[in-house]
Amino acid sequence: MSSFDISSVKGDLNRGQVSWEAPSNIALVKYWGKKGLQLPMNSSLSLSLSSSKTKTTLSWKKKPEGEGPSFDLLFEGKKKVQFQKKISTFLKRIEEKIPSLKDYHLQFDSENTFPHSVGIASSASSMASLALCLGSFAAYSGVEAFLGDAFYEQVSSMARLGSGSACRSIYGGWASWGPYELDEREKGSDFYATPFTKIDPLFEEMSDFILIVDSSPKKVSSTEGHALMEGHPFAEGRILQAENNMNKLVESILKGKWDIFQRVVENEALSLHSLMMSSNNPYILMHPRSLAVIEKIKEMRAKTGVNCCFTLDAGPNIHLLCPRSENAKVKRFIESDLRDLLENERWIEDSVGALGPKPLEC
Ligand code: DP6
Repeated sequence: MSSFDISSVKGDLNRGQVSWEAPSNIALVKYWGKKGLQLPMNSSLSLSLSSSKTKTTLSWKKKPEGEGPSFDLLFEGKKKVQFQKKISTFLKRIEEKIPSLKDYHLQFDSENTFPHSVGIASSASSMASLALCLGSFAAYSGVEAFLGDAFYEQVSSMARLGSGSACRSIYGGWASWGPYELDEREKGSDFYATPFTKIDPLFEEMSDFILIVDSSPKKVSSTEGHALMEGHPFAEGRILQAENNMNKLVESILKGKWDIFQRVVENEALSLHSLMMSSNNPYILMHPRSLAVIEKIKEMRAKTGVNCCFTLDAGPNIHLLCPRSENAKVKRFIESDLRDLLENERWIEDSVGALGPKPLEC
């Protein structure tokens, strides 16, 4: 991928601005459990979406010497105190990468393109857009690591320090993160995600129907869920399962094998939730209606043979995935069989976005 064009920065090093939008992503092989500083216990693979995005503008202002760093975070124009701690931890973690940040007051203005309070996780797109802005600041102020072709890799590594899944939102289309190796040339890394581009035409245009089952705030955050993988009775087995699923999934994507794809994607979603239920502090994030939706999808598929499958992230909502060629049938099915099971009969039609993040006019 190419480097960042610093001409999109407005202002100068004393006072300036840069804006980016970054996509949300849905994992097919799930990142669940960490080691060290935000390194994944296992490989993961995700799809970046085309409509669900976060836009962030970073404004910087140089401070008088010795005052120390400071920042404000505004979400849709309002101060967002509940994100304050996460951002402050994130900025501490990236201090070494961009040492001059400590001389600035930073303001982040973020907004999502998807409706808020529908239970769609936005930490990946938020942290990715923040990291892209900070990486641009770094490139603009001449931090060598962010100049040239390594820009996206560096930003992905930085986004990881904000939220693990955010490192995959630095790319459009499909991205993998973790030790998985496709071949000698395409080696994975625990530190940053890499785009995954060897896709059979069957998977080139995928739709994601996000079925809103319950939008209430989650009782247990993903960060707490990851922590419960430490000492989890099935941790070792999970690592093997994820790497195995990664192999099978990649093969299905390379060769256009829907049946294998579907089996692995659904196995991953249900395994994620069973890891939560079997942890030392067990909890359930699925809703009874999530199960009803899953049953209906299975029944419909058995009857009609439509290529579609479900996945969930750490919450009750269902992502119903299908090749674009199946859109009309899947939409009819949602309207006729699933609508009544959804909160306020709500669902969002999205698709895989090949383009990925882009810098915006400030
Ligand atoms: C279930 O990236 O939100 O969505 O690194 O603690 O911020 P932190 O967690 P986060 O975890 C996402 C977990 C997941 C699976 C995935 O996206 O791979």
